Amino acid sequence: MKIIVTGGAGFIGGNFVHYEVKNYPGDQIVNLDLLTYAGNLETLKPVEDAPNYRFVRGDIADREFVFGLFEEERPDAVVNFAAESHVDRSIEDPGIFVRTNVMGTTTLLDACKEYGIGRYHQVSTDEVYGDLPLDRKDLFFTEETPLHTSSPYSASKASADLFVQAYHRTFGIPTTISRCSNNYGPYHFPEKLIPLMISRALADRELPVYGKGENVRDWLHVEDHCAAVDLILRHGKVGEIYNVGGHNERTNLEVVQTILRALGKPESLIRFVTDRPGHDLRYAIDPAKLTGELGWKPRYDFDSGIRQTIRWYLEHEDWWQRILSGEYSKYFDDMYGKRLG
Ligand code: NAD
Ligand code: TYD
Repeated sequence: MKIIVTGGAGFIGGNFVHYEVKNYPGDQIVNLDLLTYAGNLETLKPVEDAPNYRFVRGDIADREFVFGLFEEERPDAVVNFAAESHVDRSIEDPGIFVRTNVMGTTTLLDACKEYGIGRYHQVSTDEVYGDLPLDRKDLFFTEETPLHTSSPYSASKASADLFVQAYHRTFGIPTTISRCSNNYGPYHFPEKLIPLMISRALADRELPVYGKGENVRDWLHVEDHCAAVDLILRHGKVGEIYNVGGHNERTNLEVVQTILRALGKPESLIRFVTDRPGHDLRYAIDPAKLTGELGWKPRYDFDSGIRQTIRWYLEHEDWWQRILSGEYSKYFDDMYGKRLG
C-alpha cells in the first residue's frame, strides 16, 4: 500500500516513518512535511535512501498543493501527524494552530473525499479531554470522556477530531483517530520537557519547572505510540477512536529529578518559574479498548524508556546541538527570558 505520512520530519512522525520503512518494505511511504521550525530532515537520514521512501515538502493547508499530490500519488492511506504541537507556542500565537491543525486536517479530508482513500488516520492527543484533578487517582480518560479543552493547542486538535468524525459520518470517509498521552524518546525537539531538561542539564544550565512541578503527565515511549498507530491503521475499526497510553504517570518534578539522577547532576539546577496559563493538572489514559480489541501492549515502562532515551541523547549530541545552535536559541530567549529573569 502507498501511505502519505504527514509531519514525518517531526518527532513522532519521524519515528513512524522509520517504523514503516523498516517493517513494511513492500509499502511506499511518502513523507509530506512543510519543514517548519519543528521539522528536521536530519531525523530521516537513516531511511532517506530506502527504495520505499520519498520526501515531499509542502503545506497540508495548501489545497492546490495537496490535491496535486493526491492526483500524482493516489495514496491508499493517509496518516496525519502534521501539526503545530507545542502548548506554549499556542498561547503566544493561536492563529497558526487553527490554520495547520484545523484547516490542514480539513484540506487533507477534502482530498480524500475527492480522490478516494482506503483509510485516513488522524493522530490526536489526550489533551482534547482537558485535565483530571490531582487528588483523584481513580479517574482516567476513556474514549467516552467529553471533549473539554484548555489551551489553543488542544482546542485546535479537538476541532480537527470533530471534522474527522463529521467527514466519516457525512461523506463516508473511512477514518480512525488515536488519542495518545505525552510521548518521549529519540528525535524529540528540545523545546519539550524531557529533551529540554536533558540538554540543559548536560550544559549545567538552570532547569525551568513550571509552578511547583506537581502537574502529572502520562508518559509513553514514542516507539510504543508508533506501534499503536500502525496497528490501528491496519486493523482498527473504521469510524472508531482509540486511546493510547501505558499507565506511566509522573509529576514533572519526578521526571526532572529522574533525569538529573541519571546524568549525575545536582537538583540545585532546578528553578521553579511562573506557571503556564491554564496549565492542565493531570493527564491519564485508560488504554483498555486498544489493548482489549487490538492486543496492543507497550514494550517500555517509564524507567526503561527514560534510560534508553537519555542514552540516545548522549549518543546523538550532534543531532540536538544543531537544533540548539539554530532558530531554537532565539525562540528559547523569547519564551524564557521573562520567566528566568
Ligand atoms: P512536532 O512538532 O515534532 O512535528 C510536527 C511536524 O509537522 C513537523 O515536522 C512540522 O514541520 C510539520 N508541519 C507543521 N505544520 C505543517 C504543515 N502546515 N504542513 C505540513 N507539515 C507541517 O510534533 P510531534 O510531537 O511529533 O506530534 C505529532 C502529532 O502527534 C501531532 O499531531 C500532535 O498533536 C500529536 N501528539 C503529540 C504528542 C506528543 O507528546 N508530542 C502526544 C500525542 C499526540
Ligand atoms: P510539554 O513537553 O510542553 O508537553 P504538554 O504541555 O503538551 O504536556 O510539557 C510537559 C509538562 O512539563 C507540562 O506540564 C509543562 C511542563 N514543562 C515545564 O515544567 N517546564 C518546561 O520548560 C516545559 C517545556 C514544560
